[in-house]
Amino acid sequence: MTVRELRWADFDDLRETYYLLYEERERGGNHGIHLFRDRPTVADEVGWFSGLFRRNLDGEGIAVVAEREGRVVGHCTIDPSGGVRASERGHVGVLGILVHRDHRGQGIGSALLAAALEKARDVFPLVRLSVFASNEGAVRLYERFGFVHAGRIPGAFRRQGAEIDEILMVRDRRPPRGPPGASARS
Ligand SMILES: CC(C)(COP(=O)(O)OP(=O)(O)OC[C@H]1O[C@@H](n2cnc3c(N)ncnc32)[C@H](O)[C@@H]1OP(=O)(O)O)[C@@H](O)C(=O)NCCC(=O)NCCS
Repeated sequence: MTVRELRWADFDDLRETYYLLYEERERGGNHGIHLFRDRPTVADEVGWFSGLFRRNLDGEGIAVVAEREGRVVGHCTIDPSGGVRASERGHVGVLGILVHRDHRGQGIGSALLAAALEKARDVFPLVRLSVFASNEGAVRLYERFGFVHAGRIPGAFRRQGAEIDEILMVRDRRPPRGPPGASARS
């Protein structure tokens, strides 16, 4: 398995992995990616992928993939909060990660996280993410990578008639700050 940058030719593998989540949901799966009510069309996916590819190409965002036997089986993205880096919250990266259902629990997610966070080091001093509270394995995984809990929103997700809490997590790589209220110049 190798982890590398996103390529234009990766579209179909990413789309297939994402589409499988809709099947998983139908079967009551407990994955932690929030989905639309209906599966997006291939045209919708092309739009999403083009944005991702472009942001990675021009340095606005980060997109790495895991390749196994010639096939992409997972990806991890970090995009600027608010969509552009040149904004008052552009130093905050928003992380997303997905591994193909047949390849989970084999270290691919960890390898993707390590690679994406390394690339984020000089770009996004803060990285945040959102995770289903029911996705306890993923929460543990993020904790291992230095994410800490930053809040919990009750019932933020609705899936198959159930309400699930959202856990917000953040990884802060800024130098320690002074006491509350101290300005940067004091
Ligand atoms: C969460 C996810 C990215 C982790 O990737 P992975 O390749 O399975 O992770 P690794 O093999 O490197 O690490 C395994 C850890 O992830 C946890 N994990 C979370 N969901 C898992 C799953 N569905 N299958 C296996 N392991 C999972 C395991 O519990 C394990 O932690 P542990 O060692 O403390 O038990 C992946 O399982 C996945 O894509 N899940 C579905 C989508 C999702 O929930 N994404 C997260 C959105 S916030």
